[in-house]
Order: sequence, then C-alpha cells, then structure tokens
Amino acid sequence: MIFQMVYVSKAAEDLSAHDCEDIIASSQRNNAQDGLTGGLLLCDGWFVQVLEGAVGSVNAVYQRIAGDPRHRYPVIIGAEYLQRRDFPDWKMRLISIRNVEDAVPIIRRYTPTTAFDPQGLTRMSAVELMKDLAQAQAS
Ligand SMILES: Cc1cc2nc3c(=O)[nH]c(=O)nc-3n(C[C@H](O)[C@H](O)[C@H](O)COP(=O)(O)O)c2cc1C
Repeated sequence: MIFQMVYVSKAAEDLSAHDCEDIIASSQRNNAQDGLTGGLLLCDGWFVQVLEGAVGSVNAVYQRIAGDPRHRYPVIIGAEYLQRRDFPDWKMRLISIRNVEDAVPIIRRYTPTTAFDPQGLTRMSAVELMKDLAQAQAS
C-alpha cells in the first residue's frame, strides 16, 4: 500500500528562485533514494505538496520538511492509503504559478473563490488541481 499525504504551508516571504531550485534538487535526489514521489505547487505565496511512498518514508521526509525555514505553518490537509500512486513519474515536480490570473479558470474548478485558498482543498482535489495545472503548463 502507498501512503499519500498532502499539506499546505506559507512560503517564506523572502523565498527566492534559487531556494526553489535548491528545494527541488535535494527533493529529487532524496526522494529517488527514499522511494518517494509527488508534486509541489507554489501559488500566490502558498505551497501545496503531495508526498507518496511507504508510510515511514513519508513521515520521515515530512518531519524534515516541517522544520524547514523556507516555509511556515505547515498544515496536513489529508492522508490516505492508496492502491497506487497518483504521480509515479514525478520524483518531485515543481508547479510554480507565476501569474495567478492565468491559473484562475483552473483554480475555480477546485475552490469556490477566485483567490487561491489552498486550505479549502481536500487531498483529492489538491491532486486533481496539480494534474490540471501540470497539463495546462505542458500544452
Ligand atoms: C516546501 C518544501 C518542500 C520540500 N520537499 C522535499 C521533498 O519532497 N523531499 C526532500 O527530501 N526534501 C524536501 N524539502 C527539503 C527538506 O526540508 C530538507 O531541506 C532536505 O530534505 C535536506 O536534505 P539534503 O541535506 O539532502 O539537502 C522540502 C522543503 C520545502 C521548504
């Protein structure tokens, strides 16, 4: 069984592009070793992250992530055992939304307000939102 956890946090005010590159580089390196996959959305100063893998590995990485000063106030919004991964090919994919306006039509499918309010997401809607945003970025 795969354990999947989704949390939301506030990005540090002084988070830089270099910080994001650094987070993704160490995530991809560590997650490949730890059998973890998932997605990391950065939108309007919020992070939403989906982590999936063995329950012990997800917990261990979450403990590390939760203490990282590059974000604050992490809140777990859902966790579930699943038959299979939602993101088997993503060691950790960053979906960075630079222009929130462009993403509003997609965000509206998942939150009732046009402002991005990730705390209103569920585990499942966070996963679907990431899939939709990644698809929109690819096309
Ligand atoms: C929003 C956010 C998401 C992160 N996601 C991961 C992750 O998926 N995997 C990981 O190993 N580290 C992740 N990190 C980084 C960890 O907090 C930590 O810096 C890193 O795991 C340390 O490993 P290193 O010494 O190999 O760089 C994340 C950090 C932040 C701020």
